[in-house]
Amino acid sequence: MNIKFSILVLPLLVVSSYCSTIFSLSSEGSLSAPQDLISSRNGKFTAGFYSVGDNAYIFAIWFTKSLADGTNTIVWMANRNQPINGQKSHLSLFKSGNLVLIDANQINVWESGTQSSTSSVELRLLDNGNLVLVTYEGQRLWQSFDSPTDTLLPEQPLTKTSKLVSRRSLTNFSSGFYQLHFNEDNVLHLVFDGIEMTSVFWPSPWLIVWDAGRSTYNDSKTAVLDRFGNFTSSDRFGFQSADYGVELQRRFSLDVDGNLRLYSLDKLSNIWKVSWQLFPAACRIHGVCGLNSLCSYDPVSGRKCSCVPGYRMKNPKDWSYGCEPEFSISCNDTSSLDFIPLRHVEFYGYDIAYFRNKTLQECKDLCLKHCDCKGFEYKYVEGNGTYGCYPKTLLFNGYVQASWPDFVYLKVPKAQRARQEQYEGNLQCDDKKVMLDRAYRRKEHGGWMKPFIWLVVVAGVFEILCVLTYFIKTRKSSNETTQGYLHLSTRFKKFTYAELKKATSNFSEEIGRGGGGIVYKGKLSDDRVAAIKSLYGASYQGEAEFLAEVSTIGNVNHMNLIEIWGYCAEGKHRLLVYEYMECGSLSDNLNANNLDWEKRFEIALGTAKGLAYLHEECLEWVLHCDVKPQNILLDSNYKPKVADFGLSKIFNRGGLDHSNFSTIRGTRGYMAPEWVFKMPITSKVDVYSYGIVLLEMITGKSPEVCADGDSGDDDSMGLGLLVTWIREKMRENSERKSWIQQIVDPALNGKFDLEKMEILLELALQCSEEDRDARPTMCEVVDKMLHPENFELKLDMLM
Ligand SMILES: *[C@@H]1O[C@H](CO)[C@@H](O)[C@H](O)[C@H]1NC(C)=O
Ligand SMILES: *[C@@H]1O[C@H](CO)[C@@H](O)[C@H](O)[C@H]1NC(C)=O
Ligand SMILES: *[C@@H]1O[C@H](CO)[C@@H](O)[C@H](O)[C@H]1NC(C)=O
Ligand SMILES: *[C@@H]1O[C@H](CO)[C@@H](O)[C@H](O)[C@H]1NC(C)=O
Ligand SMILES: *[C@@H]1O[C@H](CO)[C@@H](O)[C@H](O)[C@H]1NC(C)=O
Ligand SMILES: *[C@@H]1O[C@H](CO)[C@@H](O)[C@H](O)[C@H]1NC(C)=O
Repeated sequence: MNIKFSILVLPLLVVSSYCSTIFSLSSEGSLSAPQDLISSRNGKFTAGFYSVGDNAYIFAIWFTKSLADGTNTIVWMANRNQPINGQKSHLSLFKSGNLVLIDANQINVWESGTQSSTSSVELRLLDNGNLVLVTYEGQRLWQSFDSPTDTLLPEQPLTKTSKLVSRRSLTNFSSGFYQLHFNEDNVLHLVFDGIEMTSVFWPSPWLIVWDAGRSTYNDSKTAVLDRFGNFTSSDRFGFQSADYGVELQRRFSLDVDGNLRLYSLDKLSNIWKVSWQLFPAACRIHGVCGLNSLCSYDPVSGRKCSCVPGYRMKNPKDWSYGCEPEFSISCNDTSSLDFIPLRHVEFYGYDIAYFRNKTLQECKDLCLKHCDCKGFEYKYVEGNGTYGCYPKTLLFNGYVQASWPDFVYLKVPKAQRARQEQYEGNLQCDDKKVMLDRAYRRKEHGGWMKPFIWLVVVAGVFEILCVLTYFIKTRKSSNETTQGYLHLSTRFKKFTYAELKKATSNFSEEIGRGGGGIVYKGKLSDDRVAAIKSLYGASYQGEAEFLAEVSTIGNVNHMNLIEIWGYCAEGKHRLLVYEYMECGSLSDNLNANNLDWEKRFEIALGTAKGLAYLHEECLEWVLHCDVKPQNILLDSNYKPKVADFGLSKIFNRGGLDHSNFSTIRGTRGYMAPEWVFKMPITSKVDVYSYGIVLLEMITGKSPEVCADGDSGDDDSMGLGLLVTWIREKMRENSERKSWIQQIVDPALNGKFDLEKMEILLELALQCSEEDRDARPTMCEVVDKMLHPENFELKLDMLM
């Protein structure tokens, strides 16, 4: 028997019962609900009965190891829409070769529909999570990989016959509204198939397939994620995960919210981290809030639904049903009707027609004339100086976006209008921040444990036996298991001041300063090494306010962003506990000349990814405001993680003007001109700072040093001196290669990839443009670095 396996499944044995785990099921065998399990040889996967409600089970495959929050991640389900009874139900492998899930009342809930001429068939769970039915000769009769539910595992292809279907909700595992599959045109697409309507929302419906970078040509219709994090599809869609190149436990899932995400399991913290996602802007996913409602971005929950004025939720428990009017409209008497303007709002689709060059009154009349018209969008047509009118029969896929300048006018009775002058979009997020303690609690599986409490007691005895038996033999693996449990209790915890004082030996080892606090190295009681930041002057901030902000930071999980483990808010003390990064900051490493060209490029890319994620890839919710080499930390593999984010005010993009920032933030040399010229602050300030960091990595020259010359001059604050120097070099030398050689950090000894260097230089110069509109967004930067072939190199034009 595989020893390692036994140790890994221990936690499961506790909640099922002992010694019912097998590696394969042979002909005429059966598994009884709820306790019998099949395990893969490597112990990574388990197939068995998973509780989804009171005495309700599905036959499923999940990752054996529980997450930090004690839940298990399901990767496949046989009977998601028809759960079975917890007693007397079983999965039977008949002599005929058919695998059947039989409910307590003897009804066949699910079957593989297979037949075998030879009598010996076996059900096995392979190491990659594939449950297979094989004959004695090794022929595969059936495999779970052919019928995915909402998740693909590495090397599990999506084919012309399979599709992913999201769950109904976080707590309801049955089929939901979102589907991913290949259509007749051989193109992978995402469909919202809701209660009242269906719409395709990816690739973008307004794009011709080819313009979306997809191909209809290849009819093999396969898409697959490889072991290293490269996803490729026969329609030319593809991406690499943020942590591409290493073999990790990954899963590709169509989530409840209709977004496609790739997750990697972080071994240390034992949580899934998003390493790629399709929609950075959650509100662009169709159907999120149902009919007659508006979706707005919420930094804590991702998004928030609300009814348009005059409407109420149809089903108070479920946004999928949308909203219904609180009034009735009589089309006979148009004089009793009026319109409420909704600002910053757009609804996608369902236009009666498009009318060019209309005045507002003309457009109102058009909508009044059409009984079906629920409202209209009135949009400025750029270039023509006219307005377009889009009357709508349905108000669907509505979202609020501060940058959206146009209005939607909602048709309502006059009485309603009198109650509501104008709707300003719901852009306030301060009033609904969640307290920290709740941020990580997942309620959905609470019920799972309950019926088993008594079992735990019984099984506990067995576990002690098992531990005694195996602990001696396999010290290492058992460590792994206990670690998982430790994290369960320690994840995102509130620390006491005394604890942190002890961890840092009375704050003795200072490892950094700035960004509003001093950072100390410390060792937590569970032996994790942490970076503990003591914030200056944060005590003016109430504990609730502090927690609200920390919870937002804590919700941001990305490979290239530093992970926060906890906080302390006690009296006047405000501390944050972060993961410790072995290799220190980018700044230290540049100074110590530790970084070769490859490392520098990877750091540039990773940092860009982290910032792009922070900006919610173009939604701009969390600004960093102090991007500099001191805030880019490197782990033991020199993978960068951006630190110190989220400390500048978390804000919504409509509400921010310069006055929201009481003091200028940022660091001399890296600060965008907007700060100096008191212009509105947008995510482009981070782009600017990133550009300067790139230039520093390329040239090895610090902009702070450059800025020293005119330290008395407050107006310039050393803006762009590094940029000026480079542009001068470009002008002096007509030959590209020669000036590049001149500006590149001599420490590289001329060892670099010229082509990539040109890309970095071009990006760096674009990012550090004085005019913020000329700077790209962080996601454009990432895109360019990953797919330079899609862009024309314009270095010469920048001179
Ligand atoms: C899950 O959703 C389905 C479909 O809406 C519904 O029929 C079922 O009752 C729900 N199950 C639970 C446990 O809420
Ligand atoms: C990803 O896979 C595709 C198809 O196998 C391949 O063409 C591409 O080069 C791979 N990308 C990377 C970064 O390995
Ligand atoms: C179609 O796509 C598959 C899978 O990506 C690939 O193996 C095959 O070579 C492609 N065929 C053509 C004609 O491009
Ligand atoms: C509207 O007018 C039609 C005929 O003019 C009449 O039959 C109908 O009852 C009226 N509807 C309402 C709601 O007043
Ligand atoms: C828009 O309409 C007005 C009045 O109908 C007309 O004078 C004007 O030329 C039109 N503009 C365009 C760009 O068609
Ligand atoms: C301007 O309006 C004319 C007709 O009114 C139309 O043909 C043209 O496409 C419009 N131009 C733009 C940029 O929308």
